[in-house]
Amino acid sequence: MKRVIYPGSFDPVTFGHLDIIERSLNIADELIVGVLNNSAKHPLFSVDERVAMIEEATRQFSHIKVEAFDGLLVDFAVKTGANAVVRGLRAITDFEYELQMSQTNAVLNPNIETVFLTSKLQYAYLSSSIVKEVALVKGDISKFVPENVRKRVFEKFNLKERADEQD
Ligand code: COA
Repeated sequence: MKRVIYPGSFDPVTFGHLDIIERSLNIADELIVGVLNNSAKHPLFSVDERVAMIEEATRQFSHIKVEAFDGLLVDFAVKTGANAVVRGLRAITDFEYELQMSQTNAVLNPNIETVFLTSKLQYAYLSSSIVKEVALVKGDISKFVPENVRKRVFEKFNLKERADEQD
């Protein structure tokens, strides 16, 4: 049984993340989306909100669980019985950080492998910050995130008229 973790902040989840989730299900028997509860960061959404948004957006898939975690990723992997971590690579600029992270994790626990999936070209530019930046100035984010997330982002920014669009 290949149980794989896809970890991240997901503040909020985007179509880019969802693409990695969907494609990870081709290589994993079970995928655990691990949502980092990081007190050092100041996310827009609480960890429970981030978990809920991913659950809503992945209802069509089976063999997937969404769980919050804190502390070390490799410890979360051991706790959940996962033996691999999947990460998305959008561009060469992601590579250095991802390499460092995977090598650190390999030193911390050599039993946990890291697997990289390259982003689809159409999502290579996308990040959670871009979504928030565009939404804050009332821009259209429907090409970046699914409808449930679009609504929640505008509600968070108190842009009710934007949130209620396309109802
Ligand atoms: N599509 C869209 N956006 C993507 C993406 C994709 N496929 N892949 C990454 N991103 C974006 C995210 O939206 C995020 O954008 P933002 O900076 O605008 O918010 C950015 O890339 C990085 O986010 P994410 O992939 O969520 O990684 P992270 O750096 O927030 O978290 C963890 C990475 C959770 C895996 C890492 O911090 C971790 O393991 N922490 C636990 C502590 C630990 O074990 N440390 C030791 C290992 S170094």
